[in-house]
Amino acid sequence: MADSKLGITLARHIYERQKEHPEATGELSGILGQITVAAKVVSREVNKAGLVELLGLTGEKNVQGEEVKRLDDFANDVFISALDHSGHFCIMASEEVAEPIPIPLEYPTGPYCIAFDPLDGSSNIDVNVSIGTIFAVHRKVSHGPRGCEEDLLQPGRRLVAAGYIVYGSSTMLVMSTGNGVHGFTLDPSVGEFLQSHPDIRIAKRGKIYSVNEGNYPYWSEGVRKYVNYIKERDPATGRPYTARYIGSMVADMHRTLLYGGIFMYPKDRKDPKNPVGKLRLLYECQPMAFLMEQAGGAASTGRAPILDMRPTALHQRVPFFAGSPENVRHLEEFILKYNPAPVGG
Ligand code: AHG
Ligand code: MN
Ligand code: MN
Repeated sequence: MADSKLGITLARHIYERQKEHPEATGELSGILGQITVAAKVVSREVNKAGLVELLGLTGEKNVQGEEVKRLDDFANDVFISALDHSGHFCIMASEEVAEPIPIPLEYPTGPYCIAFDPLDGSSNIDVNVSIGTIFAVHRKVSHGPRGCEEDLLQPGRRLVAAGYIVYGSSTMLVMSTGNGVHGFTLDPSVGEFLQSHPDIRIAKRGKIYSVNEGNYPYWSEGVRKYVNYIKERDPATGRPYTARYIGSMVADMHRTLLYGGIFMYPKDRKDPKNPVGKLRLLYECQPMAFLMEQAGGAASTGRAPILDMRPTALHQRVPFFAGSPENVRHLEEFILKYNPAPVGG
């Protein structure tokens, strides 16, 4: 039953779901509440980045060796300061910070840890194309009051919550606490995220493929043969697929979730430093894989589910194929047939 005219707020949604799932503690509600506070601040700055000095580069490089955009830095600071004193977390990790981020000694710690990509799609900031934030929440598993890297390096199967915010024509939060995927759209006039997409389910099969074809020469045999095949025809309809690629993972995955099809970031031999691809397991691929599976989709390395991978490093990269289950399975058939085992996609 919706709130009066306001619609169902995120807090109301979580409260109502908690009644169905007593194991979901009020703590998750608090965590998601803090994340939305940070998201509103970032959304405000994204929407006026062109007017204030937040476009362009800081002149530094991050642990990824990438040039840091002012908005990357800003979003990173906003999420760290919104989360570090909340008492929910024992440790945090950010794409923009080389090491795990401890909770300052003056703040209480809590039974969860969070990994996040504060601003995803940085290359699109200066041209006003949709960008986003991605987050993943695990339960603390280490002993002692303060967390450590062990808490962050858990398989995605153990995630308790994950989601993303997409700063686009509207600002949307899409999240799951393990009971389906739900979308909330920010109503700036009241400053609330209101439920707009309850129980998102991905189509079993879609006809959109999304990949940076500029990397074609660096792909494995299996991926090249798959993409060539679907460019000829969609097995189900006999007609070619449609190509869509925005270059912000959040935006490409949001479209894939709502329209179906497959998103791919294969390993490519272009960057010898990162022979397994560009996307990071902890704060891009795991949360997105969690959401995809919760929505009835699939997310794979090309050979195995992303959620089964046991991470070994904070900024570890992994080949990533996600979307409608039939499309992902079709891709895996090509990898199995044409790639030397055990290499994924
Ligand atoms: P980030 O901005 O957090 O570094 O992520 C960028 C990622 C991801 O958003 C996107 O899917 C991918 O980079 C695009 O990479 P290419 O430009 O190589 O296609
Ligand atoms: Mn990213
Ligand atoms: Mn980023």
